[in-house]
Amino acid sequence: MISKKKSSIILLVLGGLYFSNITAFTTNRNYVSIAEQQTSLQKSIANGKELYVEFCVQCHLATGKGNGSTVPPLDGSDWLTKKRTESIHAIKYGQMGEILVNSKKYNGAMPPPGLSDEEVADVLNYVQNSWSNKQNKMVTVDEVAKVKK
Ligand code: HEC
Repeated sequence: MISKKKSSIILLVLGGLYFSNITAFTTNRNYVSIAEQQTSLQKSIANGKELYVEFCVQCHLATGKGNGSTVPPLDGSDWLTKKRTESIHAIKYGQMGEILVNSKKYNGAMPPPGLSDEEVADVLNYVQNSWSNKQNKMVTVDEVAKVKK
């Protein structure tokens, strides 16, 4: 016969196990959603890399350093980090006229590459996370769509 005292201890232990599993379950779920976010940024960066090779590398070069004279650098560019909306605008619609990148004046012309909003987001996520650049805040398609001419 199981005494009343013994059975209440068993219930207590079972209850404890039950709740510790719930905690483990919720913690795992949080972990999964953070991992999913990282995956979508990683995916975007991977697509962006292909777009970069096709649409940007001929001017900004594989090093992202530009040509040292008329084409500004993307690697370490303060324009890229400080002017998020302008960067989206430049890649979406092209960029002309005088700009300052790392205190150096540029006055050239970048033709619009003709990318979709998703491609603009991808290539920007790539350049913002390549060479010495790091940007945790992912550029989204919605964000690109909101930038108008
Ligand atoms: C035909 C050459 C050319 C191509 C191709 C080109 N760019 Fe540019 N890019 C330039 C020039 C020149 C400027 C400076 C424009 C100015 O002086 O206003 C510039 C400026 C920029 C800037 C702002 C300044 C900076 O360096 O942070 C960004 C960001 C940029 N380009 C990203 C890209 C991306 C991404 C692509 C590919 C989708 C691309 N460019 C394709 C020539 C080019």
